[in-house]
Amino acid sequence: MIRTILTYPNPLLKKKSAPVDSINDATRELARDMIETMYDAPGVGLAAPQIGVLQRVIVIDIAGKNEPPELIVAINPIIVHAEGEVYEEEGCLSVPDYAANVKRHASVTVTALVLDGTERTWQAEDLLAIAFQHEIDHLEGILFVDHLSALKREIFQRKARKAAEEKR
Ligand code: NI
Repeated sequence: MIRTILTYPNPLLKKKSAPVDSINDATRELARDMIETMYDAPGVGLAAPQIGVLQRVIVIDIAGKNEPPELIVAINPIIVHAEGEVYEEEGCLSVPDYAANVKRHASVTVTALVLDGTERTWQAEDLLAIAFQHEIDHLEGILFVDHLSALKREIFQRKARKAAEEKR
């Protein structure tokens, strides 16, 4: 089922998500819905809090962007190693019509559970590394705009307020 993607400034996007303690039918249904919602948007990643579920589940598929296509479902993901630095433009399904450059690690090692309950480790570079960091941030209630300088963030907030007023 395609779920509604919450957008800034929805307060749920600022909340920290709880770890999944057991992978059951509800977890599998959540993952299925997240995958469907991500592809429908379309986006390259989605975190459960973006559909209002405060659980540590992310999905990523950066296919078609110079990376080998792979659908990733990561439960309770942890960045166990990070190095290097990149500064690339990011957007977010929860922050429509806005993109900005964000400083991230160039490569990360991520460990997580997958849907069959086993543990997996990804060695991620470039766009996949950025996607992991972006989606794991969501589980902490952090949006990419929270990484901007105070001045850039202020400009973003002003734009967002203006857009909200125009919608009214
Ligand atoms: Ni996002």
